Formats: sequence, structure tokens, C-alpha cells
Amino acid sequence: MELIQDTSRSPLEYMKGVLLIKCFAEALGPLQSFQAQPDDLLISTYPKSGTTWVNKILDMIYQVGDLENCNRAPIYIRVPFLEASDPGEPSGLETLKDTPAPRLIKSHLPLALLPQTLLDQKVKVVYVARNPKDVAVSYYHFHRMEKTHPEPGTWDTTLCHCPLPASPHVQEWWELSHTHPVLYLFYEDMKEVRPPNPKREIQKILEFVGRSLPEETVDLMVQHTSFREMKKNPMTNYTTVPQEFMDHSISPFMRKGMAGDWKTTFTVAQNERFDADYAEKMAGCSLSFRSEL
Ligand SMILES: *[C@@H]1O[C@H](CO)[C@@H](O)[C@H](O)[C@H]1NC(C)=O
Repeated sequence: MELIQDTSRSPLEYMKGVLLIKCFAEALGPLQSFQAQPDDLLISTYPKSGTTWVNKILDMIYQVGDLENCNRAPIYIRVPFLEASDPGEPSGLETLKDTPAPRLIKSHLPLALLPQTLLDQKVKVVYVARNPKDVAVSYYHFHRMEKTHPEPGTWDTTLCHCPLPASPHVQEWWELSHTHPVLYLFYEDMKEVRPPNPKREIQKILEFVGRSLPEETVDLMVQHTSFREMKKNPMTNYTTVPQEFMDHSISPFMRKGMAGDWKTTFTVAQNERFDADYAEKMAGCSLSFRSEL
């Protein structure tokens, strides 16, 4: 019998100065053997920034809008998660071995931990960034339901001692976009309900990956990648993940999918504290976010 190590609610571990959940930290050794291919496409995000949304959009592009193909397996199988290694489940690396080229690959790794082969092979990157206040709220609820994370404590303590600050991630990938093929997208632009979005962002992705699709297919994609559709689609709402890893009764994986909802959670004092801290962390960076639409 395979020995299954219990990594549930384990403390975070430092790897090259970055705090990681235990099972990701353990995946880094085997990842040394990962070999990128020039036609791979990396979807990089800080967690809770629209990752699954962009995964679904790209999967639909690669499947030329064929819904049946897209719904053949959960999104985390169709777009393997590079650093995933939940005990008893196939790792990201194993899933990638069975994935035919051209491959879509998802990762949350900071550049310091990213396998160098992805940069050496000049693999194209689609990056999505989201305003940090919505990310903080979303991450808090995810923390509560995703059992490989340590217990989050209260919202206030989570916000005070956020172990995984988003600011270095969004900044370093922004810097990388000046020297490497990175399409840098913003969640708020995708979310904007005024036409032509999210269509305009889908067109940007199509152009970046060098494909074109008929107008009707793009309209179909807009419809099937909407939050409402993805929340009720078992292949994208993560209910196929065993309950020991994700407990949707605590908080669903697809929770609200909104821009600016942080206002219902942050107190005035928390907001002031966050703004001051954030301004310091982002000093000198030209990136800016819309905190509401
Ligand atoms: C996930 O999708 C299934 C199938 O449509 C649905 O029954 C379930 O309520 C959804 N779950 C969540 C947590 O959104």
C-alpha cells in the first residue's frame, strides 16, 4: 500500500525566501526534472486572481470552442498545475507527462522558484493580476476551505500577517514582461461588464497565442466562461477535488467572482492600514490597479 503522508493543515515552509504550503514546497525537488517545450503556454497568477477563468478561456481557444472536449476532464487536468502535489493525487508533473502538445500549464510560483527551463525555452506567458484587496478577501475564504493551507485564523489576523503577499509577485512578472513574451492582463478589465469586455481581453489572448476564431465561437466562449456558468460546471467548480482537500461547505471554490467586493469585508481602519503598507511595498513600481469598477 502506498504510504500517504498527511499534509493537511501543515505549517508553511520557506523556500528561497518564499513561504509556501508544504505540498508545494515538496514538489519543488521533483520539478527540477521538468523540461519545458517551446510550444508550451504558461498561465501565471498570484492565487485568487482569475486563474481558473483564464485557464478555461485558453482551454476553449485550444479546443476551438468544442465544449464536449473541454468538459472531458476537470480544468486542473486539462491545464496541469505545475507545482501541485496533493498526497494520493497525481502531481502536476505526472499530469503533464500525459498531456499532449501544445500544453497549457498553470503555476503560481514566484520567479525565484520557477523552473528555469520555462524562461530558457521562451515559453509564452499569460499573466493575470487582480486588485490586491479583492485578492486578500478571496484568499482568506480559500484558506478556510482548502485544507492543505494552515488554519487561517480571523480575517483581521490574516490581513495583518498575510503569509503570501501578492505585491512581489505582480511586480516581478510585470518586470519580466519587458524582456520575455508575457501578456499581462488585469482581472478588472476582464470583469468590466460594459461591452466589448470580456471579449476584448479574449481577443488579446487570441492574438497573443497567434490564433483566430470566428465571431460566433468567441461569443460562445464569453458565455461559457462566465462566472455563472463556471460556478455550476462541475469541470470548473472544483467539486471533483476530494473533500479532504477542499471543503465547499465552508466556502465554495467559486465564491463571488466580483470586482470591488472587498468593501463589504474591510473596515475603515483595515483599509487605511492596507493602503499605507501597500504604498510602501509598491514604491517605484508603475503598476496600478482599479479597486472598483
Ligand atoms: C458545482 O457543480 C455542480 C454541478 O452543476 C453543482 O451541483 C454544485 O452545486 C456546484 N458546486 C458549487 C460549490 O458551486
